[in-house]
Amino acid sequence: MSILIKNGNIITATDNYVADIFIEGETIKTIGKNLAVNADEVIDATGKLVMPGGIDPHVHLDMPFMGTFSSDNYETGTRAALYGGTTTIIDFILQKQGNSLQAALQEWKGRSDNNCVGDYSFHMAVTDFNEETKKEIKHFIEEEGITSFKTFMAYKGALMIDDRQMIGLMEEVKKHGGLINVHATNGDMIDYLIAKHKAEEKLTPLYHYLSQPEVTEAEASERFIEMASYTGCPGYIVHLTCEGALNAVRNATQKNKKVFVETCIQYLILDASLYEKNFEGAKWVMSPPLREKKDQATLWAGINQGLVQVVATDHCPFMWEQKLLGKNDFSKIPNGHPAIENRMELLFSEGVNKGKITLNKFVEVSSTNAAKIFGMFPKKGTIAVDSDADIILFDANEEHTLSAKTHHMNVDYSGYEGWRVKGKIKTVLLRGKVAVDNNECKVEKGYGKFVKRKKVGQII
Ligand code: URP
Ligand code: ZN
Ligand code: ZN
Repeated sequence: MSILIKNGNIITATDNYVADIFIEGETIKTIGKNLAVNADEVIDATGKLVMPGGIDPHVHLDMPFMGTFSSDNYETGTRAALYGGTTTIIDFILQKQGNSLQAALQEWKGRSDNNCVGDYSFHMAVTDFNEETKKEIKHFIEEEGITSFKTFMAYKGALMIDDRQMIGLMEEVKKHGGLINVHATNGDMIDYLIAKHKAEEKLTPLYHYLSQPEVTEAEASERFIEMASYTGCPGYIVHLTCEGALNAVRNATQKNKKVFVETCIQYLILDASLYEKNFEGAKWVMSPPLREKKDQATLWAGINQGLVQVVATDHCPFMWEQKLLGKNDFSKIPNGHPAIENRMELLFSEGVNKGKITLNKFVEVSSTNAAKIFGMFPKKGTIAVDSDADIILFDANEEHTLSAKTHHMNVDYSGYEGWRVKGKIKTVLLRGKVAVDNNECKVEKGYGKFVKRKKVGQII
């Protein structure tokens, strides 16, 4: 099967030009002006932006968490991602404390194998680092193609590891060419504040926010950076939300230290005033919580300063009925919100169309940088000869409204209900196949392939 995409405005992290793309099988064969080739299918991309498929390196599908499961499974979640222009996701496996990493991998494969519509990979979350776990790291990096290891400095009593385990894990991961990603908030401080608020019978979603003040994130980010720098292990802070934490990153660069930083679309465009809506605020109960307007400004600046390399989602949806588990106690509200389908259009609309980031920066933070950091580049994350033909055709001017009535995520509300967006995904190709066209998904579950990743942490 061959496809010719004609006359599109091709945007990569570095380029902006009009040309044709010839695809044969799963990969891009030729790029050039007025290509004289015969193709099975011709797509006219005149007037459209033609960009690499999005990569969302932070999603939680069908994940057991806080006594329930996130409501998108691998089929509904990767399909919704495709509708939103994201062709590859990286999900998280959670080790069960007391069990091996291999056991966790098998459990996650049981839910994901043959069920994905779009391409996917895994980070391995290490929640119990011990002599046995240590022996498994090399195998995951060299054989499984799972080269990034997630750690939690919070969720005390559930997922959190202490600094002793963190240092030991970093040394092992560095030795074999992997990377540590981290949920960097101070779990002990948060645990204390949650207990204090509950003792004072302050139980509404607002107190979720007040239990995780900025200092909890700034402190843990700084501590993580120091540990990563001490061990020499590449580090990546997930879902960074605020000025204090970004300043810890900024200060570290002045001492020639470096970590990669991800923020998520919600932290760029939503703020903590949503927690004043009484229980409706549960829609945005996530960790870390939404912050202030000044933090949004810091994050947009951080993207342009090169301190923030990735805009992800931390997609972790729960049905309203699941959120109601915390009706009388904010600490029981399952943490997370849905965004896998909305990330690219929201980032384009609020970022590019409002003049906050350039088109090249959009591609960099929505696709290319994640591919580089997580060992998938140049197979994924760019439009180049021999790269996978993961391509979106985008109308920069079409306006539409986000709503739970029209989205494809398996969740019965939207965190962005009624949001006017300028810019629309029109066509999505995944490995040379038209996966979405005119609001219709053309590929089935099972089409999505597991992406084995290379050793990670390219300097970008
Ligand atoms: O609220 C969140 N972020 N839920 C998912 C788990 C995590 O911390 O990433
Ligand atoms: Zn987290
Ligand atoms: Zn997460």
